[in-house]
Amino acid sequence: MRLKNKVAFITGAGGGMGRMAALMFAREGARIVANDYRADAVEETAQMVRDEGGECIAVPGDVSVAADVERAIQAGEEAFGLINVLYNNAGIMPDGDESVLDLKEEVWQRVMDVNVKGIALCCQYGVPALLRAGGGSIVNIASFVALVGCTVPQDAYTASKGAVLALTHSLAVQFGPQNVRANAISPGPILTPLLDQLLSDPDKRALRLNRIPMGRFGKAEDIVYAGIYLASDESTWVNGHNLVVDGGITINYF
Ligand SMILES: NC(=O)c1ccc[n+]([C@@H]2O[C@H](COP(=O)([O-])OP(=O)(O)OC[C@H]3O[C@@H](n4cnc5c(N)ncnc54)[C@H](O)[C@@H]3O)[C@@H](O)[C@H]2O)c1
Repeated sequence: MRLKNKVAFITGAGGGMGRMAALMFAREGARIVANDYRADAVEETAQMVRDEGGECIAVPGDVSVAADVERAIQAGEEAFGLINVLYNNAGIMPDGDESVLDLKEEVWQRVMDVNVKGIALCCQYGVPALLRAGGGSIVNIASFVALVGCTVPQDAYTASKGAVLALTHSLAVQFGPQNVRANAISPGPILTPLLDQLLSDPDKRALRLNRIPMGRFGKAEDIVYAGIYLASDESTWVNGHNLVVDGGITINYF
């Protein structure tokens, strides 16, 4: 088991890739502290993990609210004694996020609050927990859109994911000397509820699929396998890396 004796704090674990991370990390032996602001959904995830024989507590809360994050980390440490992994996965891509020419300040602000401040808050309260555990691994979920331009812009989302990569570098350099690593994963388009609406339009679906050399959209598992590697002791000398898992979409010229 690749995550035996690890305790992983996973945000956005009520669905999509976060739920898959909770299930697959637990199958590798990790105990799971599962967060989501949808309380019912994250409780369901915790039950799914327990039904498979794993250990998981649900810690509902909004990652953009400091008090929620502080409470969630505290509950995780109380339940399992320590936290070794921060899997900062919660993120949003709301309707109404398009070009800066049509910028809506409330949309921009909410995207930044969840996608960037959320990770910062999880680190504010989570890094001290990792240090108390003697070290650990931070895995931040960014996106391939941070690496390439797109003629169908979602500028707040794109900028937020660029910030996630920059923050990851800063965390890696700050805390590496204390045995806390920080890495990012940049997924390509993955079939989760986040993309459901976008991909329900056949033209939009075909446009994106044509760009992926592997000829298919990603699955949540494709990303979580990378997450398991970065969370595990197999990657103890990997720090400040951005692991792009995208079927090749980002390097596709034609
Ligand atoms: N699906 C994709 O194609 C894709 C591609 C690149 C990156 N990503 C990133 O991967 C991560 C997971 O995406 P997904 O596709 O599984 O999305 P999803 O919408 O299926 O799941 C996201 C989960 O995060 C939760 N969440 C949202 N805001 C929250 C908040 N403020 N506090 C706590 N929980 C919150 C939601 O309730 C949901 O359960 C996100 O950071 C997303 O930006 C997704």
